[in-house]
Amino acid sequence: MPILSSILLLGSAVVGSYAAPADDSALAKNSVVERSVPPGGGYNGGYYYTYWTAGQGTIDYENYDVGGYSINWSGVADFTAGKGWMPGSDRTINYSGTFTPTAGNALLSVYGWTINPLIEYYITDSYATDPSTDASAGFTYKGSVDSDGGTYKIYTAPRENAGSIIGTANFTQYWSIRTTPRVGGTITTSNHFNSWASLGMNLGTFDASSYCYQILSTEGLWQSSGSSALTVW
Ligand SMILES: *[C@@H]1O[C@H](CO)[C@@H](O)[C@H](O)[C@H]1NC(C)=O
Ligand SMILES: *[C@@H]1O[C@H](CO)[C@@H](O)[C@H](O)[C@H]1NC(C)=O
Ligand SMILES: *[C@@H]1O[C@H](CO)[C@@H](O)[C@H](O)[C@H]1NC(C)=O
Repeated sequence: MPILSSILLLGSAVVGSYAAPADDSALAKNSVVERSVPPGGGYNGGYYYTYWTAGQGTIDYENYDVGGYSINWSGVADFTAGKGWMPGSDRTINYSGTFTPTAGNALLSVYGWTINPLIEYYITDSYATDPSTDASAGFTYKGSVDSDGGTYKIYTAPRENAGSIIGTANFTQYWSIRTTPRVGGTITTSNHFNSWASLGMNLGTFDASSYCYQILSTEGLWQSSGSSALTVW
């Protein structure tokens, strides 16, 4: 299993500049319940939130009402956190907010898992550096899909002895990476899932008992720093 280290919990109520959809008017801070059991997370505002970190650096994560959250992070080798649903499905996801990487790399994605087969999937709308350019990560280009006003390049990547929802495992990542990064809009997951399937990239089961969550994820990697304030619905 990945190392689930503590997230710094905030004591003071701060809202700051925060973009929210019209139906998400109450932006009071909610308390964050720290959980030390896999996969780390819980329910807030009717949405599932979860986090994972490789343990380095600082990560301040705070839930806002309904589907909102804010993260400030600094000097992080790798973390992912965010809010969405558990289990995942082929839902149409809308989101808005801000995403500001300042060092290293960071990704803004619909991110989740299936089992049988165990798949870690990303539909990545924004990034500091396109993660497929990391030669050591072993991305294989499969094709592309046009969806929600953009073009996404589709890749697979192997993960060996890596942390997963079922513990350390070997598995495949599926990726859709938007060629023109954006922050905010609609992600029609079925367009990606169908394109992946047509390329032989079949997802497994969205299994709740295995924590097959599906979140709007902020991920920081490569000694990452930055901030995000996002709402998903
Ligand atoms: C992140 O920083 C912004 C700006 O200082 C602040 O408004 C927000 O509450 C912070 N969020 C967290 C989770 O620390
Ligand atoms: C999501 O966004 C799309 C495109 O703007 C819109 O048609 C749809 O009604 C939105 N769905 C929800 C639940 O807000
Ligand atoms: C992953 O694959 C490698 C190479 O085949 C193997 O040595 C290792 O035991 C596998 N790891 C797991 C967790 O199954």
